[in-house]
Amino acid sequence: MDTHDEILKQRRFLQAAGWEERQQQTTRTDQQLGVPEPPAQKAYPPNSTIIELPLPESTGLGTMPVISALGNRESRRKYTGGAIRLDQLSFLLWATQGVRKTVVADGITKYRRLSPSAGARHPFESYLAVERVDGLTSGLYRYLHLEHRLLSLRPEHGLAEQFGRAACQQVWMRDAAVVFVWTAIPYRTEWRYARTSHKVIALDAGHLCQNLYLACEALGLGTCAVAAYVQDQVDQLLEVDGADEFTIYLAPVGRID
Ligand SMILES: Cc1cc2nc3c(=O)[nH]c(=O)nc-3n(C[C@H](O)[C@H](O)[C@H](O)COP(=O)(O)O)c2cc1C
Repeated sequence: MDTHDEILKQRRFLQAAGWEERQQQTTRTDQQLGVPEPPAQKAYPPNSTIIELPLPESTGLGTMPVISALGNRESRRKYTGGAIRLDQLSFLLWATQGVRKTVVADGITKYRRLSPSAGARHPFESYLAVERVDGLTSGLYRYLHLEHRLLSLRPEHGLAEQFGRAACQQVWMRDAAVVFVWTAIPYRTEWRYARTSHKVIALDAGHLCQNLYLACEALGLGTCAVAAYVQDQVDQLLEVDGADEFTIYLAPVGRID
């Protein structure tokens, strides 16, 4: 049972922390200490299998008026079990984590994305449990956001169901065509914001998922935010270490009637 004290302690996470010290410069961040900037995208071995994605601008998708996408958005948990197309997946990836502009300022390269992020730090990686996407073998993939390409991590059937089970037995996820699983690499934000980072990382994650909701709505697909999951189980499915990189949010995507 959570005690009242534990709940009060957790509440503090929602409050601003460390900004006063930062303003008064009583502490210095790794960025201020001259530590090199961490990479904006997780590295991958040179001999990896890479899948090219159609450019979102060339797909002609996503022309629904924003008033309709906003007005119709809802959490959808019933999927037909049908496949989605690669150009649709490409559009959804671009909408959530795609790069729209690269800016170099004060010696730092900032990748401006389709979603906002505190200090443009974008501390996320996007993993995909692909179940039914035309042209893709079922399995685990990672979106290479700086290149708009997919990295194949391992072929495997039934991952949507496995992620559903790791998400506190939310077995409805098994009919999804693909499950988005976002990890956080907190140091990307901590390098610049130290202990002011963690609340803003959680805020940033919300923006990713909202973009996914609106993009799905525009394509006639369904999605639902999922934050109820068992940390170790999802991290193990992704093969991430759970300390420097760990799952922060999931969202299955599927076809709807
Ligand atoms: C942070 C967050 C976590 C959520 N986690 C879950 C979840 O684990 N499982 C689920 O079925 N829905 C989840 N939802 C969806 C909410 O239940 C849903 O947004 C809410 O009922 C309102 O419905 P609507 O999105 O259709 O307006 C989550 C939503 C948010 C924003």
